[in-house]
Amino acid sequence: MKIQLASLISVLAASASAHSWLECVDTDVANYEAARANPDLEVQQTCKGYPRNKVNNNDWIQESKTYLWDLNNNSLNPDGLACRPSQTNNYPAGVPMTTAKPGQTLRMRHWGNGHSRYDMGSPLHKDPGVVRLYYPGKKETDIKLKSELVEQNWIRGAQANFSGNAIIQITGDKMNEKANYFDFVVPNWENGRHSLVWAWAWEKSIASNPANFNPTTDYNNALMNSWTTCFDILIEGSTATGSTDTGSTSQPSTSSSAPATSMCSSKTCLKGGMAANPCTGSDCPPCWYAAGDNYNCFDYKDGKCPFGGAYDCDKNLQTRGATRFERTPFK
Ligand SMILES: *[C@@H]1O[C@H](CO)[C@@H](O)[C@H](O)[C@H]1NC(C)=O
Ligand SMILES: *[C@@H]1O[C@H](CO)[C@@H](O)[C@H](O)[C@H]1NC(C)=O
Repeated sequence: MKIQLASLISVLAASASAHSWLECVDTDVANYEAARANPDLEVQQTCKGYPRNKVNNNDWIQESKTYLWDLNNNSLNPDGLACRPSQTNNYPAGVPMTTAKPGQTLRMRHWGNGHSRYDMGSPLHKDPGVVRLYYPGKKETDIKLKSELVEQNWIRGAQANFSGNAIIQITGDKMNEKANYFDFVVPNWENGRHSLVWAWAWEKSIASNPANFNPTTDYNNALMNSWTTCFDILIEGSTATGSTDTGSTSQPSTSSSAPATSMCSSKTCLKGGMAANPCTGSDCPPCWYAAGDNYNCFDYKDGKCPFGGAYDCDKNLQTRGATRFERTPFK
């Protein structure tokens, strides 16, 4: 049965479009070091805490059809939601919510599905990207929109290479990703239910992170979140009160905190500033300039935005300010 499922998974992973989801929030891996050193071993693992509403747990096929959440497919996600609507704060019998204490390490498991390596799998020569966690800043609160999945709501340091801690068995030029993990140390949160969003960012990730990229401090906007899973942690045994100490996460999580990213994916601008050439979101050239209630957008010139004050949608960066002879900065 195990072998059949494994081979079915690799067939599906090869034919289906790329996807991943969070399988388990709190994974106990009895032989992690041994299996990392010798991926031929069977990984001995049990799940102690699950993502939301995991009704088809252990049924990879059902879950790959009904559980994962494709953030950027507008026909599936017309309202721009951060979580699949069925991922409500509901935990059926047998697939409980995670319970944890501040300081505890949770080993999260997600599916590799053929995307763990640059030099193997499908598609070939695509960086595996990163997994990272978002938090709305206080308990009993949910992140609702994908536009809230921005640096302000990122739990600083809660980010790792998609395949950094994976156990991957290689046979010839084939890989069997037995398990991909992401270790998360629970912050000093107060007792109660805290809801989080796990995201895999790999779109636009053919070019990898900069060489000096530090996943614990650096947030790479150029890696666009593509798949999410929502989950909760019930904190017990904490002495913390009120809002918490996760740096940037104490900021309010309104969608207005991300004007730029939502602009880059959904607003209309005028190519070359010409009214006859409108385009929308990522179909447009990368350098956006506010012009009254509208936007003008331009291609790079010599590798840079042509005028000061641009918002660069490819890099997700505000560029240098405009001089007084140039266009007004993006607001
Ligand atoms: C978006 O989802 C629809 C419905 O499942 C699917 O037919 C389409 O291929 C998807 N588009 C992309 C770009 O993946
Ligand atoms: C993740 O790790 C792989 C293998 O070490 C590497 O090729 C890739 O560039 C890394 N990706 C990121 C986004 O850091």
